[in-house]
Amino acid sequence: PRPVILDGDPGHDDAVNILLAHASPEVQVLGVTTTFGNVGLDRTTHNALTTLALIGASTPVYAGADRPLLVPRLSAESVHGQTGLDGPLLPAPTRQAEALHAALFIIQEVRARPNQVTLLPTGPLTNVALALRLAPDIAPLIRQIVWMGGSLDVGNWTPAAEFNALCDPHAAQIVFGSGVPLVMFGLNATHQAIATPERIAPIRALSGRTGASAVGEVVAGLLEFFAEHHRERYGWEGGPLHDPLTCAYLIAPELFGTQAMYVEVDTSGGPSSGRTNCDLWNLTGRKPNAEVVLSVDAGGFYTLLTERLGRL
Ligand code: BDR
Ligand code: CA
Repeated sequence: PRPVILDGDPGHDDAVNILLAHASPEVQVLGVTTTFGNVGLDRTTHNALTTLALIGASTPVYAGADRPLLVPRLSAESVHGQTGLDGPLLPAPTRQAEALHAALFIIQEVRARPNQVTLLPTGPLTNVALALRLAPDIAPLIRQIVWMGGSLDVGNWTPAAEFNALCDPHAAQIVFGSGVPLVMFGLNATHQAIATPERIAPIRALSGRTGASAVGEVVAGLLEFFAEHHRERYGWEGGPLHDPLTCAYLIAPELFGTQAMYVEVDTSGGPSSGRTNCDLWNLTGRKPNAEVVLSVDAGGFYTLLTERLGRL
């Protein structure tokens, strides 16, 4: 299995990514690292521990950045509720976070397993940027970073910027400038993977099987809460399940179409700050620094996700 670190801000879709990774023998989760983002760091850390408690996993959790490098902190209670995981009933955490900072855990694991560790960040990139700045030697030793964030076209927090990118544009630019092989799941890709009622129903039904766990019920509850915001705001049939696409990419890359291009993050502080400028037509003539996901086989993704959640 491929060793991975899940770095995120759970968050409904981050939590589903944690579940998908734990259900998948293709990946070995070395640890879950948390950052501020959808809600504050204390809550995202609590939510990571809660998600692991749901499946009885003893994966260590490392809390990281409680704020961005330079800009003021944002949060997204409007999308994820006050707890960051509003909706279904969730178990209390059974364990505590480790004492080590998330960025130091990333450094430790990458150095211990040169060229093997893949990072799956699904929130602001602050922890990853801190690790790269504290230990520049790790950049050539990271196998790959598969990030949910940015957008080839429009944003979802400002007209130009996607939430994770906007939360810490400077951190994102550090990562895009690091030379680490990078895959970007921007909104142009994740908006192709809407959790419609027809896709939620089989997930809920997982819990109806004899002897089955509550995972199906809980994930359906998470997706329904997430859907509500997107129905009201955008008139969509459900919410886009952004973050679990990162883990799905490692398991079934054939579900996705990508194109290599040069991406630069706007850190100007102006109206387009946080925008990931994707040079689709190579207008800058610069060497590509990311594989940007363009197409998603959404049906294939939901079939995979449902089958995997059924294993938990
Ligand atoms: C991203 O922002 C968060 O609200 C989600 O968890 C996802 O990572 C989408 O813009
Ligand atoms: Ca997230």
